[in-house]
Amino acid sequence: MITFLIAGHETTSGMLSFLFYYLLKSPKAYQAAQEEVDRVVGKSSITIDHMAKLPYLTACLRETLRLSPTAPGFGITPKDGKGDVNVKSGDKEYTIPAGGIAVVSLPQVHRDPLVYGNDAEEFRVSRCMPSLKARIANLKCVAGENARRGVQEAAKKCLEAVR
Ligand code: HEM
Repeated sequence: MITFLIAGHETTSGMLSFLFYYLLKSPKAYQAAQEEVDRVVGKSSITIDHMAKLPYLTACLRETLRLSPTAPGFGITPKDGKGDVNVKSGDKEYTIPAGGIAVVSLPQVHRDPLVYGNDAEEFRVSRCMPSLKARIANLKCVAGENARRGVQEAAKKCLEAVR
C-alpha cells in the first residue's frame, strides 16, 4: 500500500506536474516533444514498445527530474566502526559524526555549475539526450578531464566511507 501511495504515486504525479511546468515555460521543447509523440505514437494507443522510441520525451523527463527531483534527497551515515567521517566538498570539509546522518539535497547537487555549466538552472533538454557519449563529452567539456577524474575519485571515497 505504501509502495503505491507514496513511492509510486507522489513521485510520478509530481514529476508530470513539473514536466508540464517546464514545457509550458519552454515552448520550443514543448513543440519538439509534441512532434515526437505525434510521429511515433500518432493516433494509435500508446504501448510499452513506444517507450524506447521517444528519446526526446525521455530526455524531457530526465531534465525535469534533474531540476526538480521528486525524490529530492537521501541520507548518508558513517559505517559502523568507522567513527566520525570527514567529507570534502569543493574547498569545504564537513564532519559526519558516528551515528549521525547527512542529508544530500538533490536539487542542489543537480544544479552544480561545475558539472552542468553556467546554465545549470535552465531547462535544457539536449543535456539529457540518451547518448552516453554525448553526456561524457559534455561533462568533459564542462569540468575538464582532470576535474572529471577528481569527481569520480571523490565519489568513490565518499561511497567507501559511508553506506
Ligand atoms: C519518477 C518516479 C519515481 C522516482 C523519482 C522514484 C525514486 C525512487 C528512489 C530515489 C528510490 C530509492 C532508491 C535507492 O535508495 O536505492 C526508490 C525506491 C523505490 N521505488 Fe521509486 N521512484 C519512482 C517511481 C516509482 C514507482 C512508480 C514505484 C512503484 C509503483 C516505485 C517503487 C519503489 C520501491 C518499492 C522502492 C524501494 C526499492 C528497494 O528498496 O528495493 N517507485 N524510488
